Amino acid sequence: MDLLTIHGGKRLSGTIPVSGSKNAGLPVMIASLLTDEPCIIDNVPHLDDIETLIALLVFLGKEISRYKDRLEIKSTPSLYAEAPYELVRRMRASIVVMGPLLARLGRVKVSLPGGCAIGGRPINIHLDGFKAMGADLKIEQGYVEMTAKALQGTAFHLDFASVGATENLMMAAALAKGRTTLINAAMEPEIEDLANCLISMGAQIKGIGTETITIDGVEKLHGFEHRVIPDRIEAGTYMIAAGITGGDLTLTGVIPEHMKTLIVKLEQAGVKVEAGDGRIAVYASRSIKPVNIETAVYPGFPTDLQAQWVALMTRAEGDSSVTERVFENRFMHIAELQRMGAEIQIRGNTATVVGGGTLSGADVMVSDLRAGAALVLAGLAASGETNIHRIYHLDRGYEHLEEKLSAVGAEITRSKE
Ligand code: UD1
Repeated sequence: MDLLTIHGGKRLSGTIPVSGSKNAGLPVMIASLLTDEPCIIDNVPHLDDIETLIALLVFLGKEISRYKDRLEIKSTPSLYAEAPYELVRRMRASIVVMGPLLARLGRVKVSLPGGCAIGGRPINIHLDGFKAMGADLKIEQGYVEMTAKALQGTAFHLDFASVGATENLMMAAALAKGRTTLINAAMEPEIEDLANCLISMGAQIKGIGTETITIDGVEKLHGFEHRVIPDRIEAGTYMIAAGITGGDLTLTGVIPEHMKTLIVKLEQAGVKVEAGDGRIAVYASRSIKPVNIETAVYPGFPTDLQAQWVALMTRAEGDSSVTERVFENRFMHIAELQRMGAEIQIRGNTATVVGGGTLSGADVMVSDLRAGAALVLAGLAASGETNIHRIYHLDRGYEHLEEKLSAVGAEITRSKE
């Protein structure tokens, strides 16, 4: 296993190009299951999660070639209706193949993903949506199997504006009979990106970016050429890196409108942010003001930046509170930050971060992707050496992490355990 070693205390300065979004790229790749025609996707980051999905799509009958950031996806004569445990357990986003496969084949069998470090993460909303569209469903031996002669459009209210469920149902509805209305749909930019891709395939979708999405099913969808949006979570992580090191970073290839809440919160913390056309410049001083946050669905503060915000707040001049409202168990980074000297108390889903302390390097362990990002940020700000173990989680979601950080002055190296 690989290990990251950081010698902290360096002020970061320079430019970081932001990669394509993992969470937008994955569903767009899955959209290729809705057609037999060739699909081309640009701005696809080199990440383990993308490799996992490539393996799954190949298993299901696609042929995929990669040229740098471009994927070309072609069909073979067979499309397979089963996603095995071996592939689904490696990445929960795999369950989004359910919608397209059910719509195309009238049958699908997908391993249930199970929980993970950040919570139980059930898929009841996905399944209730498919049932509402007429699917019969049974759960046996860890697999969910669904059949539907023809999916019927319907009005479906999502109990929670789940990103994955909205993606799954929107793709199924694109080939269903009649009109599907998704009420309380997710509004994340990744949903908008997928919807735009589906529209380019010939889907009839209205209300993108609002909480009511209307989809009029069509008979057939075509191949597409699509460029994935920039990764707002990667960009946000580096913006916080500028904050925590008292540095100045310019991020290029970003969409500032996707990052409004983080920008407001950073400004409240005393960090200067200048957003321009496709770029964001962040200037921080050594003094950070305490700012409370609560995570929420988009456009609220993203749960995927909560851990990084906790790291930043350990450097603030006073106490702050961080409340997690999306996942029930997303505070795994806190015990590791405490090992680095952070003073944080957890009560229920709120963490109180005591400001004014200092961080010192330590050996720490990554529990999940964004927890790993928080530990990297803490390591950049800490005195001395931080060794970060189990970084395979980071390789799922941060493209060229050490290269990007080294280029702006961080002392960070990867080695074998
Ligand atoms: C996606 C993102 C993830 C991000 C999350 C929230 C991908 C690959 N992942 O995850 O990075 O943190 O959105 O912005 O895009 N829930 C249910 N039943 C369901 C579905 C969800 O109870 O059927 C609950 C979950 O347990 C969780 C909450 O809803 O508490 C949010 O989950 P969801 O929006 O579905 O997240 P993902 O799509 O898994």
